[in-house]
Amino acid sequence: MTGSLRNRSFLKELDFTADELRSLLELSAKLKAEKHGGHEQQRLVGRNIALIFAKTSTRTRCAFEVAAHDQGAHVTTLSPDDSQLGHKESIKDTARVLGRMFDGIEYRGFAQADIETLGRYAGVPVWNGLTTEWHPTQMLADVLTMSEHTTKPLAEISFCYLGDARNNTARSLLVTGAMLGMDVRLTAPQSFLPDAELERTATQLAAASGGRVHVGSDVELAVDGVDFLYTDVWVSMGEPAATWSDRVEQLLPYQVNAGVVAATANPDVAFMHCLPALHDRNTDLGDSLFRVTGLDAFEVTDDVFESPRSIVFDQAENRLHTIKAIMVATLAG
Ligand code: CP
Repeated sequence: MTGSLRNRSFLKELDFTADELRSLLELSAKLKAEKHGGHEQQRLVGRNIALIFAKTSTRTRCAFEVAAHDQGAHVTTLSPDDSQLGHKESIKDTARVLGRMFDGIEYRGFAQADIETLGRYAGVPVWNGLTTEWHPTQMLADVLTMSEHTTKPLAEISFCYLGDARNNTARSLLVTGAMLGMDVRLTAPQSFLPDAELERTATQLAAASGGRVHVGSDVELAVDGVDFLYTDVWVSMGEPAATWSDRVEQLLPYQVNAGVVAATANPDVAFMHCLPALHDRNTDLGDSLFRVTGLDAFEVTDDVFESPRSIVFDQAENRLHTIKAIMVATLAG
């Protein structure tokens, strides 16, 4: 039995216990069934939600906006060009202003320390929509999606993340999987592995939960028998073009392609990606990368991305239901 999450912030996975994460997953499934069944109850009528996006977003922003509307709440979205935040007003002062007007605040930005400050001074729940260190709302969607695509209980699920394993999604997957007792594996070139301290934390969490953690550079070893393959972009819009070729060359052996799928030896292995994905040339970045590297797919090949084993759009939809669950649980109890 878990206590109420009312008035709690979700700044990183470790803010909640494993039981609290599991209760959020149960609430997400319930809210999804309500919406799909056409009998959604509004639990946030009259609430006001601030959404701060210091970085671009499609899924996270839309999920917060639609979830709030579905539940009867109003949203105000602030992007870098239309607020004082960071230019003329500190995060600490902004937190105290927004906390007087809004019932909850979502923040997507850079340093985790910024959102920790927001959470400390706002006086209302603050939710992490992505920082350099963590992506906790993504984790709930990912685990919900895994649970929908297997009959196994969470503690029997194995998954492997391939690629840049230092980024927020990889770090969050490691911690979340370890907390929930899953078999979680990260594989990346040596220089793209997470820091030893994070690995130690995950190993301790797994020891307590009955989970398993594997961090290493041998792809075949890491993917053997897994239920889910997971990857994320290698190159983001902000990274200097001068670094692209080197990054791509190092990460290419960790691309999710037909060979990696076969190496799992699991005919039912599913493919996951938090999106957006560079699986073809149909984006400005994909086309620019093609011109630099000669490759038309990066972290995942188009045949895997478009295959029946790809569950990436189920993942994307589940951002809505899980973000709704976080707002409902922390604002309505
Ligand atoms: N996965 C994810 O966070 O997507 P957005 O960047 O579009 O919000």
